[in-house]
Amino acid sequence: MTTPFQYEPGSSAGPVPPPQCPAHSMGIGPGGLRRLYGPEAEADPAGLYEKLRAEHGTVAPVLLHEDVPAWLVLGHSENLHMTRTPSQFSRDSRRWRGLQDGSVAPDHPLAPLFTWQPVCSFAEGAEHERLRGAVTDSMARIDTRGVRRHINRYSNRLVNDFCAEGRAELVTQFAERLPMMVMCAIIGMPEEYDDRLVQAARDMTRGSETAVASNAYVIGALDRLVQRRRAVPAEDFATWLVEHPAELTDKEISEHLRVVLIVAYETTANLIANVLRMVLTDPRFRARLSGGHMTVPEAVEQTLWDEPPFTAVLGRWAVGDTELGGQQIKAGDALIVGIAPANTDPAVRPDLTVSMEGNRAHMAFSSGPHECPGQDIGRAIADVGVDALLMRLPDLELAVDEDKLSRAGNFMSRHLVDLPATFAPAPQQEIDEEPLPAVARPRTPGDWVVASPAVRGAAPVGRVSPAAPTAPADAASGEGAVVPAQRSGPTRIWHAVVRWWNGH
Ligand code: HEM
Repeated sequence: MTTPFQYEPGSSAGPVPPPQCPAHSMGIGPGGLRRLYGPEAEADPAGLYEKLRAEHGTVAPVLLHEDVPAWLVLGHSENLHMTRTPSQFSRDSRRWRGLQDGSVAPDHPLAPLFTWQPVCSFAEGAEHERLRGAVTDSMARIDTRGVRRHINRYSNRLVNDFCAEGRAELVTQFAERLPMMVMCAIIGMPEEYDDRLVQAARDMTRGSETAVASNAYVIGALDRLVQRRRAVPAEDFATWLVEHPAELTDKEISEHLRVVLIVAYETTANLIANVLRMVLTDPRFRARLSGGHMTVPEAVEQTLWDEPPFTAVLGRWAVGDTELGGQQIKAGDALIVGIAPANTDPAVRPDLTVSMEGNRAHMAFSSGPHECPGQDIGRAIADVGVDALLMRLPDLELAVDEDKLSRAGNFMSRHLVDLPATFAPAPQQEIDEEPLPAVARPRTPGDWVVASPAVRGAAPVGRVSPAAPTAPADAASGEGAVVPAQRSGPTRIWHAVVRWWNGH
């Protein structure tokens, strides 16, 4: 098979269908490639994946916004291979040939998602280990039992706000609020949770006109939190990042808090909404749940297969010329982790109606060194939240016809716009106003003695370093250079020892 890039992206060399050509309305662009954006792609993403699979196999050439070419990885095993082989497929977007040759504009509509930042999501090798190690070590200090109590109390507080009404809009009144409340508590700024913060997070992820101002609002709150924790430590995630031996700069800490807050908010809100939609629209799903044949965590897992909160991730960038799924990939090509198509790959799911109970091999959290480190927190928020809501309002019914439900977003994340429901008005539940337990599990003598040691040359604690300039790929990580091994053996062993020591 050939590379998709037989025409020069951004140039007029490729065969562009004229506006009156039916190819336009069929979502086909230059070079006859299918677009991952636009009305056709948005109306039926699953249909689009199947067409691409039939036409190209497990790895398909596609067009992103502004007809920028990329590869969409559709196969389950090809996605696993790509995400687990950072030496060939890097997370460092500065490798993108399109960025280097100017065919991808810096103000491309997807730029907020691919513009390199000094966070673990864009790092590889030793730098990734340093940054991600600080995040995962800090997550390991969260007391999961304590957090579940927070989630339960917040869920009941949200239900109290609408239970007497007999109707509610479950996306904006529940699914979008709960993750933000929980994450504010975990991060260490429960007092910052309010409608403005939820709105700002929504704005940032949905590319509205006020996205820049919303980003500044969130970053402002996080910068203030970092300064407070530098001055007075507390038992929360922000303090643990500040104190971590990897010696993150203030900028690195607030950027990681932003990644955690926003990824957690967007994905977990989508997950809760998707589970509730399944409950309200699929009688079989609901019957199995209410009949005790399926638990809420099993319902959540099935939803992670069928409607993953991130449908795709942009992405990975080819380190050198290589082959994937029979396609010739060129150094610097962009590849998209196709989460939703991997989850429906006929090679792993020949019959999509068969329950995936007990099988967690979906790609919803990706795989490899960048696999989501917050998945247990995301699952806990969805499990406890959905359970609490259904316990309080077991007779929830969809208030509109199913075909009136709409989704918005793009090929990476599609969210339900609303989910109106009715129920018999129910009394408010008294909320125990006792202070909630700290989100921290008790410290143990072994915490952080040697885990994720600081990398030589890291800026000293307390010094704000400017965001690293966008260096050319070869200066940043060396074109063709060997990418250092991820998560070295001794570190893994140390983590295992710490887990054992802590009784996990
Ligand atoms: C159901 C909820 C969630 C889903 C479906 C989800 C999914 C994902 C996916 C697909 C990635 C990208 C991995 C890649 O690039 O290959 C990711 C990365 C990440 N997620 Fe999650 N996530 C969820 C919840 C959370 C939560 C609650 C947190 C934090 C508490 C979190 C923190 C992160 C971080 C820090 C990364 C970057 C990791 C790295 O690049 O090393 N996520 N997540």
